[in-house]
Amino acid sequence: MLVMQVMLQSWPIPCTLFQRMHSGKPEVIVIGELFIDEILSGFHALPKLGEESFARKLHREVGGGAAITACGLARLGIRVAVLGALGKKDGDWVVNRLTECGVDCSALEFDTDEPTGLTVSVSTREDRAFFSYYGANRQLNRLLRQPSTLQYARKARHIHFACAPDSELDAALIGELKRAGRRISIDVQSHMSWLTRLESLKLLRQCNIFFPNEREAEWISGEEGTQKILRSLKEKGIRGVGLKLGGNGAALLWRRRELLTDAYPVDTVDTTGAGDCFDAGFIYAWLRGLNPPTALAVANLCGALSTRKAGGIDGFPTVRELRERGLLSGLTI
Ligand SMILES: Nc1ncnc2c1ncn2[C@@H]1O[C@H](COP(=O)(O)OP(=O)(O)O)[C@@H](O)[C@H]1O
Ligand SMILES: [Mg+2]
Repeated sequence: MLVMQVMLQSWPIPCTLFQRMHSGKPEVIVIGELFIDEILSGFHALPKLGEESFARKLHREVGGGAAITACGLARLGIRVAVLGALGKKDGDWVVNRLTECGVDCSALEFDTDEPTGLTVSVSTREDRAFFSYYGANRQLNRLLRQPSTLQYARKARHIHFACAPDSELDAALIGELKRAGRRISIDVQSHMSWLTRLESLKLLRQCNIFFPNEREAEWISGEEGTQKILRSLKEKGIRGVGLKLGGNGAALLWRRRELLTDAYPVDTVDTTGAGDCFDAGFIYAWLRGLNPPTALAVANLCGALSTRKAGGIDGFPTVRELRERGLLSGLTI
């Protein structure tokens, strides 16, 4: 295992021509779960059943892997569209917020019967609890299987899945995108039953990179410890892994190379969405032709800086900040 050094040199930027030829089309389409996050913090103690406690702060933000990764990419200047479902009655607030962040919302669908997915995050100084409702995200199964999704997704150079596609029913979509030469990444989040199912490996093998956090990687690999996890995933035929290790940094398996980085030091306020921000940083760096160690460093920095503010969006860095922190010196973006 190599200990990663931040490397300042860059590769040529092969995507410039691609961007010019396709200006206006999204470079990345993010398909997956969308939530409204209601973050209540500053409780002295959590109430027992039948009691009431008051939060000192309430923060409302768009959440879900698809929303957070898309907003991160947009902040870095990537043309990005999101594909997912919102509630018809309460989805406008999410559309407005995503649009304000620079995300193309034209392909979103609306559920007339269910509200937008909701997560209430309740935090004390010591820990957090989440109460969630899946809501309109139930439409994702249908969305992943409808022919127009493939036609739409083919427009982009990179497709990121922020959900857990069915290894049989959704294999056609992923297989077609792969055959069409598109780059595919996936962050299935904590869907334990998906991660412990053998067939899921077939789907992961079709993707260029898989982004699990440590617990998710333990479930799918059946191993513990960074090296053992990466080795096991490599043996299972997965070619790219961005392994997120929370406050311990991250590791990367990329074309049989293994890289490791410590966490970027930051005053952490809230870790919601750090993993989705890491994904955005990596996808951005790869699209811009940065080499693997630099891509890992950019992803690690995006994950770390996202934790300095509540929610998954406000703390995400700009390209200018990445440059100032020395990660993109010499690059023309
Ligand atoms: N406390 C922290 N300090 C610095 N970086 C962090 C911290 N927490 C998360 N990160 C960064 O964000 C990435 C994703 O966080 P992690 O908690 O592992 O993922 P997830 O949000 O998917 O559970 C980490 O790999 C790391 O780069
Ligand atoms: Mg995650």
